[in-house]
Amino acid sequence: MSEPQQSEALSNLLHEDRRFPPPDELAAAANVTVETYAAAEAEGEGFWAEQAKRISWAQEPTQVLDWSNPPFAKWFADGTLNAAYNCCDRHVEAGLGDRVAFHFEGEPGDTRTITYAELTTEVKKAANALLELGVKAGDRVALYLPMIPETVFAMLACARIGAPHTVVFGGFSADALASRIQDCGVEVVITADGGYRRGAPSPLKPAVDEALKSCPEVRSVVVIKRTGQETAMADGRDVWWDDIVGKQSEEHTPEAFPAEHPLYIMYTSGSTGKPKGILHTTGGYLVGCSYTQWATFDLKPETDIYWTAADIGWVTGHSYIVYGPLSNATTSILYEGTPDTPHKGRWWEIVQKYQATILYCAPTAIRTFMKWGADIPAKFDLSSLRVLGSVGEPINPEAYVWYREHIGGDKTPVVDTWWQTETGMHMISPMPGVTSGKPGAAMKAVPGVSVDVVNDEGIPVQNGEGGYLVITKPWPAMLRTLWGDDQRYVDTYWSRFEGRYFAGDGAKKDEDGDLWLLGRVDDVMNVSGHRLSTTEIESALVSHPSVAEAAVVGATDATTGQAIVAFVILRGDATNGGADQVTELRNHVAKEIGPIAKPRQIMVVEELPKTRSGKIMRRLLRDIAENRELGDVTTLTDSTVMDLIKSNLATAP
Ligand code: WT7
Repeated sequence: MSEPQQSEALSNLLHEDRRFPPPDELAAAANVTVETYAAAEAEGEGFWAEQAKRISWAQEPTQVLDWSNPPFAKWFADGTLNAAYNCCDRHVEAGLGDRVAFHFEGEPGDTRTITYAELTTEVKKAANALLELGVKAGDRVALYLPMIPETVFAMLACARIGAPHTVVFGGFSADALASRIQDCGVEVVITADGGYRRGAPSPLKPAVDEALKSCPEVRSVVVIKRTGQETAMADGRDVWWDDIVGKQSEEHTPEAFPAEHPLYIMYTSGSTGKPKGILHTTGGYLVGCSYTQWATFDLKPETDIYWTAADIGWVTGHSYIVYGPLSNATTSILYEGTPDTPHKGRWWEIVQKYQATILYCAPTAIRTFMKWGADIPAKFDLSSLRVLGSVGEPINPEAYVWYREHIGGDKTPVVDTWWQTETGMHMISPMPGVTSGKPGAAMKAVPGVSVDVVNDEGIPVQNGEGGYLVITKPWPAMLRTLWGDDQRYVDTYWSRFEGRYFAGDGAKKDEDGDLWLLGRVDDVMNVSGHRLSTTEIESALVSHPSVAEAAVVGATDATTGQAIVAFVILRGDATNGGADQVTELRNHVAKEIGPIAKPRQIMVVEELPKTRSGKIMRRLLRDIAENRELGDVTTLTDSTVMDLIKSNLATAP
């Protein structure tokens, strides 16, 4: 285990003394107050029983947490419910059918307004289509889609019939899609001809065709027409969404499933090469997302216009575009494209157009906007915004302050939310009506959640000290296991510190006991808020015929947080082809994993620094990648290796 990667920079930040108290008006009407913290503390599990009332149950649960077989939790186990009913029908039954669920904004400028009544109808029809294709409760369905309304319809249709979905981010490669389909035994895939990206249609279906060459179990592919691109359709396997969904009945009665029925599987990178299938179940997950969206953003569903600017292909989209917002009857913005298409003010134009009140995005986006300049957002009316959120990586104080000032008009609280694919819901965050925000700090556990920072021996550290972040009590939206691998679930999360969940992040408690996240302590990188494993990229590089060995590190990057830097040793018979070779290797990684995994830099070297036990010393490579003075090299087998690497770099292209 290596040391937290950003600790050096962050130790300076702990001297940060700016404070941003909540605006009076917001505090006066806030959903969460100091009393909420006190109630959560006093009531324990009873607090979660209370939160469970946000959801409509077919059978009300009488149990809260069953922790009789740790770390395999059951929440609200004797309750039954339907997740899609909770996100759609019940709002219509409550008279909110005309409320807008989504203001969809396509990248080319096409728009669509979807009310809760329309959403409910679309989901019912899509559910009927899946039934016609023979999908049964428990069957897994893979989704490989752009950011369009049908993506939400498809997810909820799966949930409605109890078929867990696995959404694969559209930026992942055919190989990555295939391995996920195989890992969870998918037989039906939903995709689109393509989506719009940076002003042009970008195809998706060809990657599905490629992936399915190695997935003979897949019997049906439903294809949504988005771009109208020329699309090959396999006879007897592929069907257009409009053809199969269009003809379905608008009637469908939701079936109630047990609270622990699987809702979805989301793959995420671990510290070994093989992605982990994080399993979320229905009742606890829905309670967790719906409570935290309400609490963290001070959500007022009657008046707020809420925008999570993330992709549905990641957990942020699952919890805070789909399940949290829809279970709370929120009006959301759904935007398909990139922030600079057709111009760098696109996001601000959208905020102005829909009068967005809450914006939730990643620090990498904020840093990009900083680079583009404050004069761009200044051209738009952003005065509707009242709460700003950040997610995915630590937000540096400069970005926090810029976000608050130039986007939030110097009045909005910024909530820095720490959580993970595994946690399903926010775990550490300021509460906008209570917390005096410190730029760069995630502050305290969300009311109801218990976390701590411990040292190597598992002993809680004192204020002013750093260590490993742990979660000390089960929480409703927690992952239940890794798909098909209970042992890896136990080993990865519950074995490092007895009885506590090991998050894989370093953290510090400041003098007030507030929490600062310090980055991963394992071989996982965070690039633009996306989690990537060093080992997975190393494997991709080594699978190229010219590469003998590879080491990958995450180097600090001003825009993306971390950037991927690879060191490769070529095979004896391969000659160093210079720039072309580097380009080929970068493209090879994109093909194996996806464009997001392309190394920023690849350096061809003759040796790699290793410890006596043969472990690559990534810390030293990081020093090189970041042009730092080299750290301690005494445990190296041969310290001349570093000289070799350095002299090599001097001559590298
Ligand atoms: C990892 C989880 C949570 C949805 C998006 C990423 C890092 C996430 C923060 C934050 C510091 C953060 C952690 C975590 N992370 N949010 N506010 N401050 N670090 O989900 O892909 O599962 O990644 O992202 O390192 O472990 P994910």
